[in-house]
Amino acid sequence: MPSKILTLFTLFILGFACCQQSNSSGSVTDLVNALTTYNLWKKTHNVKYEDSSIEAYRKAIFLDNHNKIIEHNSDPSHSYTLGHNHLSDMTHEEFSLYQLNPARTASKSSKGGNNSGNSSGSSNPYVDPPITTKNAPPMDWRNASAITPVKQQGKCGSCWTFASTAVLESFSFIKNGAPLTNFSEQQILDCVYGSGYYSNGCNGGFGSEALNYAIQNGIAPLSQYPYVGKQQGCKYNSTSNRYYPKQVSYIIATPYNMIKALWKAPIGVVVDATKWQFYRSGVFNSCDNNNVNLNHEVLLVGYDANHNWIIKNSWGVGWGQQGYITLAAGDSCGIADQPYGLSA
Ligand SMILES: *[C@@H]1O[C@H](CO)[C@@H](O)[C@H](O)[C@H]1NC(C)=O
Ligand SMILES: *[C@@H]1O[C@H](CO)[C@@H](O)[C@H](O)[C@H]1NC(C)=O
Ligand SMILES: *[C@@H]1O[C@H](CO)[C@@H](O)[C@H](O)[C@H]1NC(C)=O
Ligand SMILES: *[C@@H]1O[C@H](CO)[C@@H](O)[C@H](O)[C@H]1NC(C)=O
Ligand SMILES: *[C@@H]1O[C@H](CO)[C@@H](O)[C@H](O)[C@H]1NC(C)=O
Ligand SMILES: *[C@@H]1O[C@H](CO)[C@@H](O)[C@H](O)[C@H]1NC(C)=O
Repeated sequence: MPSKILTLFTLFILGFACCQQSNSSGSVTDLVNALTTYNLWKKTHNVKYEDSSIEAYRKAIFLDNHNKIIEHNSDPSHSYTLGHNHLSDMTHEEFSLYQLNPARTASKSSKGGNNSGNSSGSSNPYVDPPITTKNAPPMDWRNASAITPVKQQGKCGSCWTFASTAVLESFSFIKNGAPLTNFSEQQILDCVYGSGYYSNGCNGGFGSEALNYAIQNGIAPLSQYPYVGKQQGCKYNSTSNRYYPKQVSYIIATPYNMIKALWKAPIGVVVDATKWQFYRSGVFNSCDNNNVNLNHEVLLVGYDANHNWIIKNSWGVGWGQQGYITLAAGDSCGIADQPYGLSA
């Protein structure tokens, strides 16, 4: 019903727009484009609303977001573009609520850990760490097939479970030569808190705590403990085949140390993703780096020739560059504040 009305409305506007001689119809054309984009987006994402008033509300949010995207992209001075994705009908507040965690305190240097462990994995193509950051050649663990596919956390602030399983997945593959295996985010979501490690389920947690949990309890393959996207009781399964990592490394927080650590394996990083809702492509540089809210955890998989960071997110392949984001070099969005990984 509403879509029929919308179509009529759209046809009316099209008729109106085509008959205008002057260029003052630019905004009408924009509206038609926006409505067309909306209809296409609804179809692509198979979006259905309960009733027409909810749809009207969501459509208004979509159109508002659409304008922001168009406005950003029409300014060629930006180093990155924005685009629609599954989050297009969410307000910024909803995005923050469902996709991000409450901000944690930025504390430089985290625990000042030691990442000078030996790299011995025979499948490791990056065994020789660069001497300085300046001459470090680009690297990307995706090229070594050491990264599992991009996942989707859904409406749950469980980024920290995805970042920690991603660290476990790549480490087990690179260091142990084990087949690349998906590990269980749901086990972490359900079990970490009850086992005495800090976590607040869908409201946030620490990937490094999840790794410490896995050292004690092991981590099950995803196939044995599938993701449901909400916290529930821990389903201990003594028969499941678990991977036990041995040691967490808290990387002394500087971009140089992160590059050195990356040459051993991908690492978990905590970032300010407040402005990431519609990131599409290019080098993201819109964080206020002196005033970050660390509210998201992701996997750092490499860096490009300009030392911009290459990051795997957990918002599905429809977000960003097939699920990835490139972040400006240096301590952008707080990326160098609390990096962590495994050393054994
Ligand atoms: C009309 O507007 C479009 C985009 O806003 C612009 O590209 C075009 O040159 C304009 N045409 C005239 C005749 O002003
Ligand atoms: C880091 O570990 C290595 C090898 O285990 C050790 O030689 C070195 O002294 C440690 N460095 C720091 C800062 O603890
Ligand atoms: C690293 O591994 C090499 C080769 O196995 C060995 O010779 C070297 O002593 C190791 N270094 C450390 C710090 O363990
Ligand atoms: C990774 O692979 C892509 C595609 O083959 C290539 O363009 C890129 O240079 C590679 N990057 C690194 C760091 O090896
Ligand atoms: C991991 O899970 C994804 C789906 O989320 C699947 O496509 C992939 O084949 C699985 N296995 C590996 C090794 O990545
Ligand atoms: C428990 O482990 C077995 C075998 O490892 C597996 O088949 C089963 O699905 C697991 N059950 C749960 C609830 O994780």
